[in-house]
Amino acid sequence: MSTYDSAFGYVSAHGAPLVDLLDPQPGEKIIDLGCGTGTFSAEIAERGAEVLGIDGAPEMVARASTLNPGLSFTIGDAHDFSTSEPFDAVASNAALHWMTRDPDAVIARVHGALRPGGRFVGELGGAGNCAELIAAMQTAWRVFGLGEPELPWYFPTPAEYAARLEDGGFTIRLLEHADRPSRMTECPDGAADWIRIYAPSALIDVPPELVEPLLTRVNELAAPALRRESGWVADYVRLRFAAVRKPDGSTPLP
Ligand SMILES: C[S@@+](CC[C@H](N)C(=O)[O-])C[C@H]1O[C@@H](n2cnc3c(N)ncnc32)[C@H](O)[C@@H]1O
Repeated sequence: MSTYDSAFGYVSAHGAPLVDLLDPQPGEKIIDLGCGTGTFSAEIAERGAEVLGIDGAPEMVARASTLNPGLSFTIGDAHDFSTSEPFDAVASNAALHWMTRDPDAVIARVHGALRPGGRFVGELGGAGNCAELIAAMQTAWRVFGLGEPELPWYFPTPAEYAARLEDGGFTIRLLEHADRPSRMTECPDGAADWIRIYAPSALIDVPPELVEPLLTRVNELAAPALRRESGWVADYVRLRFAAVRKPDGSTPLP
């Protein structure tokens, strides 16, 4: 088992799969927080670790269990979960920015689930994530005389998230904030589909007869920045980090 002193040292994180930064070791106990349908959990398990996937959505946990019969999944809110035994690592892919109620509470729960020296490795949307998509939404909402659209995410700056991790009892080993333009293959109707899939809550208070013209306007506004001949590209910005839980009772070095 790698110790927290040696972990992370040799991985070039930028662009590498998150599982390589996590570097699961055979026999390690690892939580996949916000596991969704368990794709990342399965990658971790392939390296020989024992994975527990936790997700707040019962339908996600049901689907993850069906798709990955040998793995363990449970329903739980990341703000409020506890474990009966200490884990070697907590990992989270594309989920922490959905946990908006209290990011410090999530970090505290992760800390509580880890053994001293245990790893917390994650990737989430960082400050500036989807800025063009969000600006197009906000302009279109204004043009149609609607209030500000309700956005369901938390996209922290690296400095902000680093401070939260350090205040929460972690030592940061790596923190990256990088553009990751990504083809919107799941969104043939571009920004409009993206809102339908990822921000349906923003449409709840929109009068039904305005939804389609509003989404058409979002597409017109977003197209110059995000539409290529080959298709739509989302302006993703990712925050990726690797941290370790400080040893209990550790005293700062001089
Ligand atoms: C975009 S999905 C990512 C799924 C998975 N990690 C992956 O890489 O495919 C985000 C997941 O976070 C979960 N989630 C959001 N808020 C949560 C919370 N407070 N507690 C636990 N899970 C949460 C959602 O239910 C969803 O399954």
